[in-house]
Amino acid sequence: MPEEEPTAASSDPAVLLAEMAKKVITSLAELDMPVSAEVRAALRVVPRHLFLPGVPLERAYTLDAIVLKRDETGVSISSVSAPTVIAAMLDQLQVKPGHRILEIGSGGYNASLLQELVGDTGQVVSVDIDPDVVARARQSLTAAGYPDVTVRCADGEFGVTDLAPFDRIIVTVGAWDLPPAWSEQLAEGGRLVVPLRMRGLTRSIVFERENGHLADRGYELCGFVPMQGIGERRERLVSLHGEDIRLRLDDDQQADADGLRAALTTPRAEAWSGTTVGKNTRFDGLHLWLSMALPDFGLLAATKEARKRGLVAHSWGLGIPTALDGASFAYLTFRATSTARERFEFGAYGHGPDAERIAQRMVSHVRSWDGTSLNARITAYPAGTPDEQLPAGALVLNKRRARITISWPDRVDTR
Ligand SMILES: C[S@@+](CC[C@H](N)C(=O)[O-])C[C@H]1O[C@@H](n2cnc3c(N)ncnc32)[C@H](O)[C@@H]1O
Repeated sequence: MPEEEPTAASSDPAVLLAEMAKKVITSLAELDMPVSAEVRAALRVVPRHLFLPGVPLERAYTLDAIVLKRDETGVSISSVSAPTVIAAMLDQLQVKPGHRILEIGSGGYNASLLQELVGDTGQVVSVDIDPDVVARARQSLTAAGYPDVTVRCADGEFGVTDLAPFDRIIVTVGAWDLPPAWSEQLAEGGRLVVPLRMRGLTRSIVFERENGHLADRGYELCGFVPMQGIGERRERLVSLHGEDIRLRLDDDQQADADGLRAALTTPRAEAWSGTTVGKNTRFDGLHLWLSMALPDFGLLAATKEARKRGLVAHSWGLGIPTALDGASFAYLTFRATSTARERFEFGAYGHGPDAERIAQRMVSHVRSWDGTSLNARITAYPAGTPDEQLPAGALVLNKRRARITISWPDRVDTR
């Protein structure tokens, strides 16, 4: 067979860029997250491949994040983020011409989009902890025609004091905490967008300052490489089956590793909730709800191989919500309610001596979820804020530099 000739389209960056921008815009619209005309215009002009030297052209224009560096344990620590995530976060940021912007975590691509959005009268400052990333970002920005972006090499935990205040701060690395510099360096009326990890779940949260704390103005599901430097706080990984099945634990969640490993070898119990969702309905709110409602919570991370071998029912990159109790655990599952596979019912698979009880506990929390995804209110207070100043009834996650509260004031009780 003759070798296939590459088509003109597949090797022309302008065509690939137009196709990528179209796909990003369409896929976000399908998720009910339409992006502004300004963000759409910026997406159509910045040549992404110039920020990915050495990466094949077609790959540079896929919708994937492209990993550029891993640490010694194999965890990805530097990447050019997925264009859909970038576009959604830029939309959350609501950039205006003339704004001064701080980006934490460089690469050049997002900074160029920001430069497009602020125009000639604005300023973009980007800071990265890794000198290799900084050097690459500077080179690529110049090559792509954005030499005015300032790139600094420093720990973004401290912001960039001498160039503050900023109208907008965008954190493009997974943060576990909210250091005070980020709110202190926000100008009056400013906006901070940050992928914040709470019990292992990351949400890109829009914060604005309000009476001495940060109040959310919405959030979206996302995943990010973890922050390094002084604010680094990694999840703990408990292996349940070599590298194939691991439990991710965040904040102060504890687990009986030996007991849980043994539990996985026991037959599973199942429980079903009667709570259903339509095929294309968002249910990331259920994950957040379960993470806060269950006293001991983890995320089950399994490889596709483990799923194929029947060791677990699912594998999902962002991790499956799991209830823990001593040497027993139960993870969230679902089944189609009809052969048309239009609706799905949530359930739980339990393992271990208390498999039945813990699976039942998980589904009772599923039943108490109100079916919405974006109605939790997330607020950040400085560390040391006394309990009586936190919203009554809120769940509290104590970080090193902040106390994060999560509450559902608009929640409709479904029980
Ligand atoms: C996902 S990448 C950033 C992507 C980039 N904004 C783009 O345009 O695609 C995350 C970056 O955050 C950087 N980083 C990690 N911890 C940091 C810290 N404490 N301060 C500043 N940068 C940090 C990493 O070196 C990595 O380059």
